[in-house]
Amino acid sequence: MFANRLALDASDAIRLIETTLAPGPDVPLRDAMLYAVQGGKGLRAFLVREGARLHGVGDRAGHAAAAIEAVHAYSLVHDDLPAMDNDDLRRGQPTVHCKWGDATAILTGDALQSLAFELICEPGSGVDAAIRAELALTLARAAGARGMVLGQALDIAAETGPTLDIDAITALQAGKTGALITWSACAGPRIAGDDIMALQAYGDALGLAFQIADDVLDATGDAATVGKAVGKDAGAGKATFVSLLGLDRAQTRAQDMVDAACDALTGYGSSADTLREAARFVIARDK
Ligand code: IPE
Ligand code: IPE
Ligand code: MG
Ligand code: MG
Ligand code: MG
Repeated sequence: MFANRLALDASDAIRLIETTLAPGPDVPLRDAMLYAVQGGKGLRAFLVREGARLHGVGDRAGHAAAAIEAVHAYSLVHDDLPAMDNDDLRRGQPTVHCKWGDATAILTGDALQSLAFELICEPGSGVDAAIRAELALTLARAAGARGMVLGQALDIAAETGPTLDIDAITALQAGKTGALITWSACAGPRIAGDDIMALQAYGDALGLAFQIADDVLDATGDAATVGKAVGKDAGAGKATFVSLLGLDRAQTRAQDMVDAACDALTGYGSSADTLREAARFVIARDK
């Protein structure tokens, strides 16, 4: 199963995070950070690793893969907070704020974000200093006020604002989900000093397909399988492709995005088959 393939890259990333985070004073910060990075699918670490392998730098991608899982975990810890989506369940477990309280959850997210940049900038990562700087700059852009955080801000604003049209929802989702996924896909060519264009197009399409699948699972999945509460988007007035287009047309759009993602890989030939499989997995998954 493809999920098992992803889990390998996820566990490498978690191991590196564990060894980087030396135990400190007796406050629930390291424990909460390690808890927050466990149990995910590992899609973003996989994309970093696979993009790097395609560009011949698979042995230099470990720190970037761990970094993106740390940023992603931070985004989820904050996304689940009562002031955001107010969720109690994540990856089949109580959310960080349910276990340790809001203050620790906020600090856990903050520290995971800092940890990501520590990992990216680590001189022992095997990546040349100028490229480490480029990875840090592009990750900062992807995660911040023109990327993921902007998407989250648009997502929250849409709960109470006017109905968004398809272009506005596409822009929202490109930020909140797409930016980190595209960064992940592009990390490999960046480390190799190669052109990122094909994997950027792949990541952009994959990110949209991925978020549509997330919205479809919210509408159709069951919490025990998905590992998080479902049926929440409609209740909260979230702007999604499902809310705008309905289930069938949203699923068609997700399939179109998977096709676009696969088309973007043409130049790589069959060596990109694993990335094609990942694109198909993203909309076929049940969690
Ligand atoms: C969930 O991402 C949040 C979104 C961006 C939709 P994932 O579905 O990749 O979460 P994990 O890491 O597998 O828990
Ligand atoms: C959150 O999107 C995306 C980020 C955390 C940036 P959702 O709010 O739809 O993610 P889930 O459904 O809680 O995983
Ligand atoms: Mg959210
Ligand atoms: Mg949420
Ligand atoms: Mg969701």
